[in-house]
Amino acid sequence: MTGPGATLARPHVWRPGDATPPLLLLHGTGADEHALVPLGADLAPGAPLLSPRGTVLEGAMARFFRRLGEGVFDEEDLRVRTDELAAFVAAAAGEYGIEAGTLVAVGFSNGANIASSLLARHPDLLAGAVLIAAMVPYRDGLGEVDLAGKRVAIVNGDADPTIAPQQTTRLAGQLRGAGAQVSVLGHPGGHTVPDSRLAELRAVVAATDRTIPDRGKAHRP
Ligand code: MLT
Repeated sequence: MTGPGATLARPHVWRPGDATPPLLLLHGTGADEHALVPLGADLAPGAPLLSPRGTVLEGAMARFFRRLGEGVFDEEDLRVRTDELAAFVAAAAGEYGIEAGTLVAVGFSNGANIASSLLARHPDLLAGAVLIAAMVPYRDGLGEVDLAGKRVAIVNGDADPTIAPQQTTRLAGQLRGAGAQVSVLGHPGGHTVPDSRLAELRAVVAATDRTIPDRGKAHRP
């Protein structure tokens, strides 16, 4: 089966909205397409929300790609699942009328990791990303990708037992090396969405709004 119908068959939440930017919400391991909807509504009130479910099962837990162990990714599966997710997002954008390249990904943990992979493999789909509890997706880096003009926030906890500080530094370096504008917003907590950073994340999301074509340019009569 080909065409948009095939890729839209994945379970997902679509919540239309009049505000901007539209968000692509990517949940963590063991959650589902409903998990990040409240966070998305908080970060971009009234904006359209697209929230797909990860299609890989680890036991009963939904994820976006396979892993070989905690923090050890099956990179070939990550590539394949990233391309499948990109096909879904492209089909959903067409179906729901989302302008290409305006989506801001908001990913938590496993969702953050596939969001980084989406930036690496399908940069044209996203205006930027908020990566919460994020790791380095590919051992050898993001590859030849141009992320100029993309804004990315990495929000990792100092007390996260699964993410060493060097991972955060490496991920930020890889994204900056590809041209992205990266903010690293640490917090004292663990593998979690930090309430203490929500105000800054709202600001990052608003600043990443590519639905306003002349953003940053002087208005002339
Ligand atoms: C992952 O597998 O993406 C990371 O280990 C985060 C997690 O899902 O726990």
